[in-house]
Amino acid sequence: MTIADDLRALEAEALAAVDASGTLGELEEVRIAFLGKKGSLTAVLRGLGGLSAEERPEAGKVSNEVRRAVESALDSRQAELAGAARAARISAEAVDVTLPGRRRPVGRQHVISQILGEIVEIFMGLGYMVAEGPEVELDYYNFTALNHPPDHPARALQDTFYVRDLSGDRAVVEGESDVLLRTHTSPTQVHVMESQKPPIYVLAPGKVFRRDVADPSHLPQFTQVEGLVVDEGITFGDLKGTLEHFVHQMFGPERRVRLRPHFFPFTEPSAEVDVSCGICGGSGCRTCGGEGWLEILGCGMVDPNVFDFVGIDPEKYTGFAFGMGVERIAMLKYGVPDLRLYVEGDTRFLHQF
Ligand code: DAH
Repeated sequence: MTIADDLRALEAEALAAVDASGTLGELEEVRIAFLGKKGSLTAVLRGLGGLSAEERPEAGKVSNEVRRAVESALDSRQAELAGAARAARISAEAVDVTLPGRRRPVGRQHVISQILGEIVEIFMGLGYMVAEGPEVELDYYNFTALNHPPDHPARALQDTFYVRDLSGDRAVVEGESDVLLRTHTSPTQVHVMESQKPPIYVLAPGKVFRRDVADPSHLPQFTQVEGLVVDEGITFGDLKGTLEHFVHQMFGPERRVRLRPHFFPFTEPSAEVDVSCGICGGSGCRTCGGEGWLEILGCGMVDPNVFDFVGIDPEKYTGFAFGMGVERIAMLKYGVPDLRLYVEGDTRFLHQF
């Protein structure tokens, strides 16, 4: 056996091993076994130095051929295996773009927020600005400056949530705490008139709180929108025209508006406002209790006593105010039978709006 025969035998062995390797790792082992520092082909090539001068040219030529053949077999097998590995990875990651998507539940704005947005929009169209007052309020703003006498029934503990007396942690005693949860948005009128000079055209939406047990027509927390206008020459006619515009925008141009005399401490004269029933058109039905009319808000001309509290000259300025319950407006607009539905969070109800 010549050394050339040895080389050819090793070549055949190496090429078979290359063919047999199924992974890049196996292929690397084959490379090391034949061409690594301690590889079998490397060992033969090292032995060439000890050959005689006649043997050397032929052996050198064959050894080069064999090394090149093995290297090129390794290279092409390497490319093959790498390509196969990439193809396998790609097909494992494949996404079936024809599958139908999974729909996520889409939320929506709460019906009360929607109606509130509509109310704000209507009055912004008339040039009103939006003002916000605090939900935790002083007795002074909620009652005193709104012309409530000290013994007014709304001040009673059973109607108003009083916050624990701030001077200590004694339980609240009626008439001793001056911090409360506002029972209406009217105190914002006082804040606005304290900080702005007329002309004033503001809308003040917000949460209000009363010690009521939740039932179809009461909630311990609900939403009001207050309106306040103070300017020179404002009349009751301006108030009525403004409210008619509001009702037509909110409920439709066919609805009629009626003002009934009423009493509020902070307005004089005062009125309650009714809108003609949308179900019977005013002839009387179950929805309106046979009346033909549905009450929607309270209003009146700002009482001069209130102007005195905030330092506005009642000889120079007059104004009107109104306050409405957003839950009630939504109830009348959509025929909601029970106020508690707004706060129960049942999406079967809420998704209708
Ligand atoms: N604050 C009153 C309430 O909660 C509603 C109200 C009536 C507001 C007349 C007003 C008004 O601004 O002028 O019942």
